[in-house]
Amino acid sequence: MNTPHREDLLNRLEEKYKTVDNRTDVHLEGLLYSKPMTYWDYVQTDALLNLQVQRTTLPDEMIFIMYHQVNELLFKMILWEMDQLCHSEKPEPQFFTEKLMRISRYFDMLTTSFDIMGDGMSIDQYMKFRNTLTPASGFQSAQYRLIEFGSTDLINLIDNRFRATIDRDTPYSHAFEHLYWQAAGKDHATGKKSYLLVEFERKYKAEFLRHMEEYNTINIRQKFKQLPEEDQNNPELVKAMRHFDHTVNITWVMGHLNAARKYIGDGDATGGSDWKKYMHPKYQRRIFFPELWSQEELDTWGEEK
Ligand code: HEM
Repeated sequence: MNTPHREDLLNRLEEKYKTVDNRTDVHLEGLLYSKPMTYWDYVQTDALLNLQVQRTTLPDEMIFIMYHQVNELLFKMILWEMDQLCHSEKPEPQFFTEKLMRISRYFDMLTTSFDIMGDGMSIDQYMKFRNTLTPASGFQSAQYRLIEFGSTDLINLIDNRFRATIDRDTPYSHAFEHLYWQAAGKDHATGKKSYLLVEFERKYKAEFLRHMEEYNTINIRQKFKQLPEEDQNNPELVKAMRHFDHTVNITWVMGHLNAARKYIGDGDATGGSDWKKYMHPKYQRRIFFPELWSQEELDTWGEEK
């Protein structure tokens, strides 16, 4: 027996399938044979739990692999939120704030996860299996770079030393060569790129250039600046913007640096960078929204208390 509710559902299905020239009856018949959903099919647990492949015999290497995979999944969740915010035509301050706080909470989670990882692996085992992973490095995380491109204007990602020579008219390929992280992959004296950087660019440079262009006018800083002035002064939104900047560019960076200090001590990084200096927010001075910080806050950016 057709209830009014069922009638309404059928009408809406008719409308839906008409738009794609499909017959509703065919789809209804298909339902007769569709498999009931299970948790494992939906979440794809079999595929997911088969992605952890060790390269050494050391058990703690498994933790290292899984920890990085968890990070990459969270980066994907962050990019998911950024995509929605940056592609919304006219975001309301409440929506803007909500999205920023979601992203920040993911980063907060990644930062505090370093506390767990601080004692999560045996240093002795780490010092052994890292030799097998050389010259791979977290530096080669593409999603991390996509998050940066989506957060701010390119000028704020340019190496401090070259900022004065670059503006909005600079070609993307030229700006790319002067991004702050290029310093970690180049020989200081000759400028020659390391294998780590050459391989990274071979795989991702084209995608990065596309992303840089796409987000040039819709990155988070641009979206904020395009808001009516009243919204740009919304205290909750300004607080969320500052929180996001601080979390990504100081708290996460310091958590990461402290993990590196703990595991590597005075040693060399697998990627071969001058990491103790390069990774410190005080030197990197990566700030997504500089106009939202006071001169004093900018002057003391990343200084350890
Ligand atoms: C015990 C844990 C970790 C240690 C000891 C460590 C160590 C390092 C070191 C020494 C570098 C400098 C680059 C080089 O290799 O020469 C680096 C860079 C990097 N690592 Fe890690 N890392 C750890 C965990 C992670 C995790 C979980 C991620 C998340 C994917 C990650 C992402 C990155 C990124 C994005 C960079 C480049 C940073 C930048 O350009 O500012 N690392 N890491």
